[in-house]
Amino acid sequence: EQFTAVVPAAGVGSRMAADKPKQYLELAGYTVLESTLLRLISHNNINKIVLVISPEDDYLQELPISKASWLQVVMGGKERSDSVLNGLQACDDNWVLVHDAARPCVRHDDISALLALAGTGSGGILAKQATDTIKLAQKSNQNACKIVDRSISREHIWQALTPQLFPRKELIAALQWCVQKNIAVTDEASAIEQTGGTVQLVAGAHDNIKITHPGDLALAQFFLEQQQI
Ligand code: CTP
Ligand code: MG
Repeated sequence: EQFTAVVPAAGVGSRMAADKPKQYLELAGYTVLESTLLRLISHNNINKIVLVISPEDDYLQELPISKASWLQVVMGGKERSDSVLNGLQACDDNWVLVHDAARPCVRHDDISALLALAGTGSGGILAKQATDTIKLAQKSNQNACKIVDRSISREHIWQALTPQLFPRKELIAALQWCVQKNIAVTDEASAIEQTGGTVQLVAGAHDNIKITHPGDLALAQFFLEQQQI
């Protein structure tokens, strides 16, 4: 079976604080965005990518990859969820993968494991089990210095990664419901959870980092050099 990946890349990268959005910074001879797109399209079961960019984006058109036959470009919105919605509406597939432009180190094995969920009743996400000890902060605390309420067994804590795979129509309905109810969601699974759907967890590699802060670029470079894909 062949799948379409929706790739949100319409962010400004405020935490990276670079002179351009982080998806256009250089990584291993390409831009971060190209590295991510090539990683996805070279997977045997992905044959199309819907790339979501900002209407103000002047960078994509400079890249040869922007003319690739497998790439469709659509305009994003204010929040990541708005961008993803626009991407989903440009597809006609039953199931769709959503993957951050800022995660160039995703492994083919992990994508395959996630795609296998399409044979089951519900979608899911790549995730990694927390490695730090997790503290829940006290709720009604006015102090800048937070106080610990309790620790949560990290056995039960998973950090959401991408890609995330869901039935396209279910995901569109869930994201639209969140927009209507003014519920902010930072990934697809959150929207599915809000509307009572099932989200399966698929354990993914710990090197599938999201490039967010300045040091992450060197880390991603290191991981790409280590990986045999
Ligand atoms: N994204 C998007 N549309 C938005 C906001 C984010 O398509 N309105 C994309 C980003 O380009 C990125 C992915 O969603 O590939 C994950 O978002 P994040 O890591 O938060 O990227 P930015 O929003 O660009 O970074 P920051 O939050 O630091 O500004
Ligand atoms: Mg953001």
